[in-house]
Amino acid sequence: MTQDTLLARAPHPEEGTRWWRDAVIYQVYVRSFADSDGDGVGDLPGVRSRLPYLAGLGVDALWLTPFYVSPMADFGYDVADYRDVDPLFGTLADARGLIADAHAHGLRIIVDVVPNHTSDRHAWFRAALAAPPGSAERARYIFRDGRGPDGAEPPNDWESVFGGPAWTRVPDGQWYLHLFAPEQPDLDWENPEVRAEFADILKFWLDLGVDGFRVDVAHGMAKAPGLPDVGHPNQVEMLGTAVLPYFDQDAVHDIHRAWRRLLDSYDGERIAVAEAWAPTPRRLAHYTRPDELHQAFNFHYLTAPWDAAALREVIEESIRTAGEVGAPATWVLSNHDVKRHVTRYGGGAAGLRRARAAALLTLALPGSSYVYQGEELGLPEVLDLPEEFQRDPQRLRGEGAGRDGCRVPLPWEGEEPPFGFGAGPASWLPIPPDWRGLTVAAQSADPGSMLALYREALRLRRDHPALGDGGLRWEASPTGTLVFVRENGGRRLGCAVNTGGETVRIPARGTPLLASGTVRLEGGHLDLPPDTALWWDVEEG
Ligand code: NOJ
Ligand code: MG
Repeated sequence: MTQDTLLARAPHPEEGTRWWRDAVIYQVYVRSFADSDGDGVGDLPGVRSRLPYLAGLGVDALWLTPFYVSPMADFGYDVADYRDVDPLFGTLADARGLIADAHAHGLRIIVDVVPNHTSDRHAWFRAALAAPPGSAERARYIFRDGRGPDGAEPPNDWESVFGGPAWTRVPDGQWYLHLFAPEQPDLDWENPEVRAEFADILKFWLDLGVDGFRVDVAHGMAKAPGLPDVGHPNQVEMLGTAVLPYFDQDAVHDIHRAWRRLLDSYDGERIAVAEAWAPTPRRLAHYTRPDELHQAFNFHYLTAPWDAAALREVIEESIRTAGEVGAPATWVLSNHDVKRHVTRYGGGAAGLRRARAAALLTLALPGSSYVYQGEELGLPEVLDLPEEFQRDPQRLRGEGAGRDGCRVPLPWEGEEPPFGFGAGPASWLPIPPDWRGLTVAAQSADPGSMLALYREALRLRRDHPALGDGGLRWEASPTGTLVFVRENGGRRLGCAVNTGGETVRIPARGTPLLASGTVRLEGGHLDLPPDTALWWDVEEG
């Protein structure tokens, strides 16, 4: 702890002005970060106790996943009260304390807001169930009569992201829409009452001092008028590749513009980042037009394979399209909804090697980067979680493998599970015993560890004038490699990445700054082994 405190970063001289354009934002999945009360579930005091670690890591801001009152049907993405903290995670006083302490450590706080749907236990939905069809209570949600004899068929063919029909029938025969679990009824954003309520919720948290919002399902808040059929089965496979009548509708942008005006009425550059699955980088960029949200997660980068050509294409397209609207590009490798990238990139030693190289690639790109908790430890996906622990609604409804394997709690220290995650004997998902060597404590003692690599990369990113916001210049390089130069204030930083299977020789001159593996830079060239990346101070010549 003391070592981390010493490492706590000093504020950047230009901090406060458009800080978000090149911020590194660390995603805290609260449930799995640190548990203060020994119940096996991470909580806000747990996060608070680990702020020195996060400040020492060198990130700029934390994004906290939902900690609001919730029956946890989707682990907090089903909110029953947007203005209070679930007892599992602490109290409102804990939230205030966390915000204040984070600010004292130079860390900004972004909270999740879930506007597409509420929990089915939210007071509004309970009232809707108790009220008759056509009532004002029902009009906050999307209730419709069914089709077919007796209205026994759902109103249209929309499928839930978690599998099965996106409609559930209530006892009086009407159906309500839920793009996710049945416990997550969709709100009707055409209803002014819904808009007013969320403006008020945003103000509540802004007044409490948060620096911004991560907007859940930002692309889903508006549905096509008349709720037309999609006309295709297996709609889940079309996510992010086609415009569906319930996602990426133009009307969402009006809602976002109103939110931006609200954010801009506060001081201190409060931001919003869109969780939006759009079919192309260009459509994604619409979410970050100057009068809309500040950033949007780049899932095109996340889903790109570990292949230089594929990565280059998405990097170029992302920078170009974000640049066209004046927004920073963002870079995301993992989050709580996808398989961790060590595993996506092949797992084992190769996956880890690639993830190390990917860290240097990602943190050298212009714009803002997201780090998902545990990626700085090189955690893999846990693929063999015992059946009885797996509780993700996505898996329970039959879509894919489920997301529990990327949500396993962090290993902090010690020789045995739960590795200092909490004071109790267990964690809500078991931590594999072979994570002994991956704990924060173990990696802090090892200069060759993933954690050491992240700490040094983040330190350089903060100190090196060429990193962060700005442009990028590609250099010609052999197939299977990416080489680019970042330049600012007379300083040039080179980044070279080899995604191929052979060592390559690249013309380069200068001083190595940080490598993800063993490289040689001398005599005007760089020898770069497979799955390795290097940052160096470029000397022209
Ligand atoms: C996206 C969140 O990241 C995910 O965890 C959640 O299941 C859905 N939105 C629904 O809220
Ligand atoms: Mg706890």
